Amino acid sequence: MNIILLGPPGAGKGTQARILMETRGMTQLSTGDMLRDARTSGTEMGKKVAAVMDAGKLVTDEIVIGLIEEKLGAGGAPGYIFDGFPRTLAQADALGALLEKLGLPLDAVIEMQVDDEALIQRITARSTCGSCGEVYNDITKPIPADGICPNCGGTEFKRRADDNEDSLKTRLLAYYKQTSPLIGYYYAKGKLSAVDGLQDMHAVAVAIEKVLDA
Ligand code: AP5
Repeated sequence: MNIILLGPPGAGKGTQARILMETRGMTQLSTGDMLRDARTSGTEMGKKVAAVMDAGKLVTDEIVIGLIEEKLGAGGAPGYIFDGFPRTLAQADALGALLEKLGLPLDAVIEMQVDDEALIQRITARSTCGSCGEVYNDITKPIPADGICPNCGGTEFKRRADDNEDSLKTRLLAYYKQTSPLIGYYYAKGKLSAVDGLQDMHAVAVAIEKVLDA
C-alpha cells in the first residue's frame, strides 16, 4: 500500500508516518528530512536549499522530484508513505508518472485537517531527538524529565531553524497557494480522504487506520 499524507506544516504528518512505520512496516519518504540531510552536506546545492527552507519557501520541483525519483528507483519494500511530497501540481504529476512507471499503485491520499492557531502552537513547541528523529512537543508530548529519548536512549534534542513564527507564516502561505490545490486534484481522482488532525495523536492514528482498512 502506498499513501500520501497531505497537510499544512505541523498537521502531524511526520508523527503519523512514524506510527505507520511501526504498525504497518511501511517506509516513510519525507522530502523535508531528505532536504535537511542535503543541507548538512556542505555542497552548493545544500547551501541553497538551507536558505530556501529557513525562509519557509518551497525548494524547486526539480530538486525534490529528483530526490524522490532516486529513492523509488533504489527499489526496496513497497509500502511508501509520502510525507510532505507532493507539494505542487507539478510534483503530483511527476509522482503519478513515477508510480505508473514502477507499476505501483497510489492507494490513498489522507488530508490532515488542523486549524492555523493549533499549527502555530504545535510548531513553536516542537523538538526532535537528534539521534532517531522521534518528534516531541513541549505541551502534548514532552521530552522525559530524565532527558533521555525512550525510543533510542539519545540525549540531544534539536529545534528546527524554520520553526519560528516568521518562517511559519511563509510556510502556511506556501501551503495554501501551492499545495492546497492538491486536495481538489486527488479528490477528482477518487483518492482523497480527510481526517480530523485536531484530535490527539492516537485518535488521529485510529482514524487513519480506518481509512486504510476501508
Ligand atoms: P517538512 O519537513 O515537510 O515540514 P512541514 O510540511 O512544514 O511539516 P512539519 O514537519 O513542520 O510538520 P508535520 O506535519 O510533519 O508535523 P509533526 O508530526 O512534526 O518541510 C520543511 C521544508 O522543506 C519546507 O518548508 C520546504 O522548504 C522544504 N520542502 C519539503 N518538502 C518539499 C517539497 N515536496 N517541495 C518543496 N519544498 C519542500 O507535528 C508537529 C508538532 O505537533 C510536533 O511537536 C508533534 O509532537 C505535535 N503533534 C503531532 N500530532 C499532534 C496531535 N494530534 N495533537 C497534538 N500535537 C501533535
